[in-house]
Amino acid sequence: MTAEVPVLDLRHVDAFYGMAQVLFDLSITVKRRQVVAVIGANGAGKSTALNVITGRVAAAAGEVLLDGRSIAGKATHDIIAQGVACCPQRRRIFATMTVTENLELGGYVHRHDKTLLRRGRDEVFALFPALERKAQELGGLLSGGEQQMLAIGRGIMGQPSVLLLDEPSMGLSPKLTTEVFRDIRRIADVGRTIMLVEQNAYAALGIADFGYVLEGGRVALSGPADRLASDDYVRQAYLGA
Ligand SMILES: Nc1ncnc2c1ncn2[C@@H]1O[C@H](COP(=O)(O)OP(=O)(O)OP(=O)(O)O)[C@@H](O)[C@H]1O
Ligand SMILES: [Mg+2]
Repeated sequence: MTAEVPVLDLRHVDAFYGMAQVLFDLSITVKRRQVVAVIGANGAGKSTALNVITGRVAAAAGEVLLDGRSIAGKATHDIIAQGVACCPQRRRIFATMTVTENLELGGYVHRHDKTLLRRGRDEVFALFPALERKAQELGGLLSGGEQQMLAIGRGIMGQPSVLLLDEPSMGLSPKLTTEVFRDIRRIADVGRTIMLVEQNAYAALGIADFGYVLEGGRVALSGPADRLASDDYVRQAYLGA
């Protein structure tokens, strides 16, 4: 029996902005149906790691594999078409477009395949009934939590192999943060694969299967999320214990 090929596999990745190296020998593996959390302080390189996956920043060394195939050096639109959806750090939903129109944009790669589009919409509305109720409302009139649902829902519309979330808790109250993380867990439980990067280590490790601690562009520590959450160093440095 062969081992399952990870959905996403970063192997020994280095990355630079100009002359400045920001990722060092970064290896991260995301297996199917897992939630993998990458936690770290401001400037640790979390968003850059996502930018390498989506092809916005080139890997100067190492490999990036999606479903076992190299995507390093490909253009962002090709990587998206191959099954990577990314919800950026600032949720860019379109305020003057309806919920339905926002979702249609997320399904753009499948615009010629009505079956896939319907499957995406059914999945999003099953996960977030509030979005179905507000399907004809403008994105800008949704609450902060609903806008986050819409941003994530837009990612799901592409029916991606992996959903990348950059700081989904940003700008949300503690209560909404709890709800959004519960949603993220539900999304994985119905079969999706998620890599999320977060400064909120407590919330992220609380729902993740596996975690990585990023410090200065390097993996300082990794392991099952529950084990990281009870690790003395992680508790002191990231959980305020
Ligand atoms: N476009 C850029 N050009 C030059 N340097 C950059 C650029 N974007 C980020 N950096 C630098 O790269 C390093 C990693 O930044 P990155 O945005 O990946 O961190 P992060 O972990 O996502 O931080 P945050 O939690 O604040 O979002 C930082 O030192 C940052 O200043
Ligand atoms: Mg960031």
